[in-house]
Amino acid sequence: MNYARSLIGIFACSIVLAGCGNGSGLRKEADRKGLVLGVAVQAGDVFDPKSISLVKGDFNLMVPENTMKWSVLRPIKDFWNWSDMDSMVAFAERHNMRMKGHAFVWHQQNPPYVNALKTRDAAIALLTEQITEVMTRYKGRIAEYDIANEVIADDGTLRETVWLKAIGPDYLDIAFSAARAADPAAILVLNDYSNEYEGEVKADAFYEFVRDLKERGVPIDAVGFQLHLEAKRPVDVKALRSNIRRFGDLGLGVSFTEIDVRVQIPSTEERVREQDEVYGTLLDVALTEPNVRGFIMWGYTDLRSWIPQFFSGYGYGHIYDRQMNRKSSYFVLKERLAR
Ligand code: XIL
Repeated sequence: MNYARSLIGIFACSIVLAGCGNGSGLRKEADRKGLVLGVAVQAGDVFDPKSISLVKGDFNLMVPENTMKWSVLRPIKDFWNWSDMDSMVAFAERHNMRMKGHAFVWHQQNPPYVNALKTRDAAIALLTEQITEVMTRYKGRIAEYDIANEVIADDGTLRETVWLKAIGPDYLDIAFSAARAADPAAILVLNDYSNEYEGEVKADAFYEFVRDLKERGVPIDAVGFQLHLEAKRPVDVKALRSNIRRFGDLGLGVSFTEIDVRVQIPSTEERVREQDEVYGTLLDVALTEPNVRGFIMWGYTDLRSWIPQFFSGYGYGHIYDRQMNRKSSYFVLKERLAR
């Protein structure tokens, strides 16, 4: 940034404090601590002035909540809907934010032509093409990707998906290798839910699965714990830390990829206190385990939240309320970041 522009920037910041990238938001503290503090954004967020000021003031990483998913990015085989992705990537660059991609291999939000895949050759060709197209287009601009999402079922077995059925169990070897070839500098992540606590059936199965991938030389760099949590269930810090460490022992990073902490409706003071506790504890763990690379929230405002639709009877999972005011969980994070 040239000198004149930075002067204008400082002037503008002193007028509208909350609107500045390094103003009074969470981001300044996160940057100071070297924490990747991220947020999932919707396509409209990068065009709406209020959202813009929040996103760039609080976070140093953005991930598209839906925009890069297969059915949105490529709803029919011969049409790529690049415009929203391009806008997000440009926004991230403009505001010096890191960008994450989400997600290639998944069993949800796929268009019909993906769900209809039958033969191994056709499935490999399409999956490789998808990964290569996206990662080549954004090479050097999207720093990390969820290459695959939710591949382990709740009972710990490999989930029955179109990819498993059409390609066979080596589909992840193929996906991660295609990704590494397309952009060797990108961080490649395997993401899942209910994989955060050592000792739980799914988490242990996920770990064994990843250990096998790593031992076989599949190019994976990190695992993602989604962490869609419930306020009334306190974080099991011991099981979380020991799980993070065993991935560290494999040489892998861990990212908290989709944090939200849902509260049972109606919200009460007690429930909000529980929620604050969960948020604060997660951040403490992220800041003190050396192989935790990211703390990413799945949205920032209760106004546009996936929670009420997917968890009936729950809501209020985010750090801004429906009026876009900062909630107590926001201040818990801010206080802990400032320590
Ligand atoms: C959710 C989005 O937030 C919703 O808007 C959409 O309707 C469904 O998907 N795990 C994931 C995310 O990996 O992609 C999901 O996002 C939430 C659960």
